[in-house]
Amino acid sequence: MPYENARPTRGRLDGKVAFVTGAAGGLGRSHVRRMAEEGADLVIVDICRSVDSVPYAQSTPEDLVEVVEEVRALGRRVVARQADVRDRDALQEAYDAGLAEFGQIHIVVANAGIAPLLWEDRLEAWHDAIDVNLTGTFHTIEVSIRSMVAAGDGGSIVIVSSTAGLVGIGGSSNGGLGYAASKHGQVGLMRTYANNLAPYSIRVNSVHPTGVATRMVADPAMVAFVARDPRLSGQAPNALPVGTIAATDVSNAVLWLASDEARYITGVALPVDAGFINRR
Ligand SMILES: NC(=O)c1ccc[n+]([C@@H]2O[C@H](COP(=O)([O-])OP(=O)(O)OC[C@H]3O[C@@H](n4cnc5c(N)ncnc54)[C@H](O)[C@@H]3O)[C@@H](O)[C@H]2O)c1
Repeated sequence: MPYENARPTRGRLDGKVAFVTGAAGGLGRSHVRRMAEEGADLVIVDICRSVDSVPYAQSTPEDLVEVVEEVRALGRRVVARQADVRDRDALQEAYDAGLAEFGQIHIVVANAGIAPLLWEDRLEAWHDAIDVNLTGTFHTIEVSIRSMVAAGDGGSIVIVSSTAGLVGIGGSSNGGLGYAASKHGQVGLMRTYANNLAPYSIRVNSVHPTGVATRMVADPAMVAFVARDPRLSGQAPNALPVGTIAATDVSNAVLWLASDEARYITGVALPVDAGFINRR
């Protein structure tokens, strides 16, 4: 056989199971696809309904079914549940259903998030940003770690934060401030869990994407909101010559942190930002 045809047959996540929140749309769906392509089985969760303070639609139950079909088409197994990351009991039930099916979960991706940027600003937008993005991340990790520690086999937790988790952007609305605060708060969780869980070889890291054209950014309501607020529309662009990056660009970083290739990487806040932060 010619050398160039000798492709590796092993995936980078063969034998692993990953728990992913916000999995029915946007970046979450991309993380699921990328990890399934690399051999992982999946436990996936999404709210599948809109949130009042968020001006763009969240995913639907049909979206979640589509993701299930995509994973199966890649030859991987999947357990899917409709659950809100704010509801710790529902999240625990979803996690436990995955654990019952697969026996062990090795990777956790706390991805679910909202940007409640409202024309008619309401305090509720602050609370929703904190509840979903920060408390939701806390719940996602809390429902997972008992079984990961008990398995004694290490693991990887990846938190999807934002460039707004590392620098002071987000504008002056209740929701924008809540977004920035929640995304910075995720870094505090990441650093503390990284220390708490290191003795069990469970690694914890965060990724900080620049703009990706998901609904959160590309929905007309969000485009109009950003155009209206000079603090948002006047932000320096990425350093590299690219407007928005692809969801896969973020998923490739998540995949790497989830894989054994990053086995000694923990406590790291990794920008996937085309140089956005360094330029500021
Ligand atoms: N798109 C970007 O430019 C960008 C940049 C930086 C960081 N992020 C972060 O990436 C993550 C994913 O965002 P996205 O761009 O894919 O957004 P998105 O709106 O396209 O997708 C978010 C997904 O999460 C689900 N979801 C929302 N609230 C939930 C809840 N309470 N419980 C469970 N699921 C819920 C939605 O139904 C949807 O499927 C978020 O944490 C976001 O803050 C996005």
